[in-house]
Amino acid sequence: QLRDNTIIIVLGASGDLAKKKTYPALFSLYSNQYLPTGVKIVGYARTKMDRAEYHKRITSYIKNADEETVKTKLEEFKELTTYVSGGYEDDESFRNLNKTLEEIESGFQGNERNRLFYFALPPSVFIPVAQHLKATCYSKSGINRIIVEKPFGKDLESARVLLGSLKQHWGEDETFRIDHYLGKEMVKNILVLRFANIAMSAAWDKNSISNVQITFKEPFGTEGRGGYFDEFGIIRDVLQNHLLQVLSIITMERPVSFSAEDIRDEKVKVLRAIPPIEREDTLLGQYVAANGKPGYLDDDTVPHNSVCPTFAATTLWIHNPRWEGVPFILKAGKALNEAKVEVRIQFKDVTQGIFKDISRNELVIRIQPQEAVYLKLNVKTPGLYTRAFPTEMDLTYKRRFADAAIPEAYESLILDALKGDHSNFVRDDELDVAWKIFTPILHWIEGKNGPAPKPVPYPYGSRGPKELDPFIQKYGYKRSSEG
Ligand code: BG6
Repeated sequence: QLRDNTIIIVLGASGDLAKKKTYPALFSLYSNQYLPTGVKIVGYARTKMDRAEYHKRITSYIKNADEETVKTKLEEFKELTTYVSGGYEDDESFRNLNKTLEEIESGFQGNERNRLFYFALPPSVFIPVAQHLKATCYSKSGINRIIVEKPFGKDLESARVLLGSLKQHWGEDETFRIDHYLGKEMVKNILVLRFANIAMSAAWDKNSISNVQITFKEPFGTEGRGGYFDEFGIIRDVLQNHLLQVLSIITMERPVSFSAEDIRDEKVKVLRAIPPIEREDTLLGQYVAANGKPGYLDDDTVPHNSVCPTFAATTLWIHNPRWEGVPFILKAGKALNEAKVEVRIQFKDVTQGIFKDISRNELVIRIQPQEAVYLKLNVKTPGLYTRAFPTEMDLTYKRRFADAAIPEAYESLILDALKGDHSNFVRDDELDVAWKIFTPILHWIEGKNGPAPKPVPYPYGSRGPKELDPFIQKYGYKRSSEG
């Protein structure tokens, strides 16, 4: 379904996202021959820079750029790219951009002209850019698509305003809202793991499962991004989007097909069964200086009295027959002791009687690093005794699929957008319901309806607030006996 005669336009080409994610993904797709034949790439941003400077920026995060084969490909890749500088709010600039696009397209064969606009832009210019692109740079003889990325507003109301304004110019079928977690290999694996295995699906409900944790841990603070982060906080940064997306795939019913609408219909359905999060089901933290590392408030770009959470654990409940009563704990934190994202499904205790103090089964899906699926289960200790002993059935991808190259999330998503496949993008109603779940606690945290809660401190590099273990235990999580 890839279309020839395509130009990919990266708006915000001089920024961080473009440099770190968009261009490396485009390069990888190009070098593996996944891009449409004859594709061209146009960068657009305010910064004035010459070709050499542009090339330097867009290739600065490309891996192994010194290797001979990569070098050759890089030179070819640079030849596909052009840079145009211009503003985000004036007609003249977009007319100029369109002129460049038409010049490039004059070299295409046939009449089709397809344009994919990638918004690597600050949210403040989303609307004017969307509007100008539609008015001035919209191809009249082919397909036009936009890829946009969070933040999509700050709460239900502002998200609706933003979505509504975008919709005036771009249809839902033309809009691809990225949540890059949906492009991660292990997140995409969840549907297969669940629905292609009867052994999994049989135990996938409140009768077998005690509690579920979806955890995001990063070992660094907001260094350098403090100003941006303070306005959003960890809930908007990670929970409301990335972790909630994972939750919806873990909990949705089986879709009728793998089509985008069938999948998203089921995701929306389960999300609608989740009431807004209660304050009592929330634990907020903020990191403080430790081990020679600065605290959140030591960042000059952060207000000195900020109560912005850099850690949050929230428990969600799903009111449907499959999940009633099962707590889903979403937790995420910056400046913790390790980098890890995982889903941990803890099963219920076996019937007591023949075993005492036996560990619970747990299914762990490690999303990153080192993709893996492992199941903690009890076996008999080898030898002459009959004693149950906890061990693991371990599917570590590096070992099992040693030669498989796992693509970056952005590669997979850009390719989907080029193909017009919406399955791994966020639909408008999905976003709406996601905001409904989080908006009340976000308003509470921001002191909109009374005094703002103060996050509990945790040391940089620690496992998180000391209150976390009791918080999780409250929902029935039992640490297995091997710890
Ligand atoms: C982004 C957040 O959406 O995801 C960042 O804004 C976070 O704060 C990042 O670091 C994590 O992405 P990944 O792919 O490194 O897990």
